[in-house]
Amino acid sequence: MRRKDVLDLDDFAPDEIREVLETTVAMKEVLARPIKRVPPLRGKTIVNCFYEASTRTRVSFELAAKNLSADVVNISSTGSSVEKGETLVDTTRTLQALGADMVVMRHGASGAPYVVARELSACVINGGDGWHAHPTQALLDLFTVQSRLGRLEGRRIAIVGDVLHSRVARSAAWGFATMGASVVLCAPPTLLPAGFDRAVLTGLRAKGLPTVVAGTPSVELTHHLDAALHDADVVMALRVQRERMDSGLLPSLREYARAYGLTRDRVAKARFGAVVMHPGPMNEGVEIAPDVAYGGQSAVEEQVANGVAVRMAVMYLLAGGRGGAAV
Ligand code: NCD
Repeated sequence: MRRKDVLDLDDFAPDEIREVLETTVAMKEVLARPIKRVPPLRGKTIVNCFYEASTRTRVSFELAAKNLSADVVNISSTGSSVEKGETLVDTTRTLQALGADMVVMRHGASGAPYVVARELSACVINGGDGWHAHPTQALLDLFTVQSRLGRLEGRRIAIVGDVLHSRVARSAAWGFATMGASVVLCAPPTLLPAGFDRAVLTGLRAKGLPTVVAGTPSVELTHHLDAALHDADVVMALRVQRERMDSGLLPSLREYARAYGLTRDRVAKARFGAVVMHPGPMNEGVEIAPDVAYGGQSAVEEQVANGVAVRMAVMYLLAGGRGGAAV
């Protein structure tokens, strides 16, 4: 991998994504061994800076780093100098002085990991910044779909929920579209990010990638759920992010669930056997019904398990590793 940082997938070429997905297969093999620890990051220090709530992403990065034999330090905003008003740049200098080789950052402000990446000689991985991007989540979603369906090209991915506040949806749209799938983002009109579709299409065009898949744009927005579900190979539900929401965007959660919640009947409108996904944490009974979340078509648990292998692959490649078969 010829880059210092992984901040979003908007600057990834298809071959680079393919390299991550191939290396993830090798990391899955490591995880299937009785002793899940390999040496590539021995002697390296990875600092996990999680300035926003997280369970699965934080634990997943920590396990990934430990499985590669790195030393891991965890910092959260509570209990660190951030509470005392330390600026991001000061935090960055401290990380530099501590000798971090890699920093994983989750931050409530969009763009924060970019500021840190510019200042720091260490590699920076974005673990989710504000509403903006969550590249490793998108990579694990790509990997999960590829393992379930065999190929990404030509697939139709419906992402339904609070798209406006979702860094998962934004990074997933870049990732799937870069790999030749088409993405339809579906939400009530107040929760759709106006212009995001055009921005991605412009970006794809600039990279020389196709902007149309089987007659439809690579990325589109809609508030019509039935249209979004039609022909979908994958249906991904997103959490209604009440903590990021101004009042007035939704009449009520019950109303939202009635109009956009993924129920069995709704999933039946997608392709037969469509893969059901959710990045977690789930509001069961709001954006997804429990029998859909835990039903036979659900890949939710696989997503979490694949998260560790994908993050191992990203860290391994950033550290200069090549050809995952060597681990
Ligand atoms: C998401 C996040 O934090 O962006 N969760 C995750 O990382 N698995 C989505 C969410 O919070 O709804």
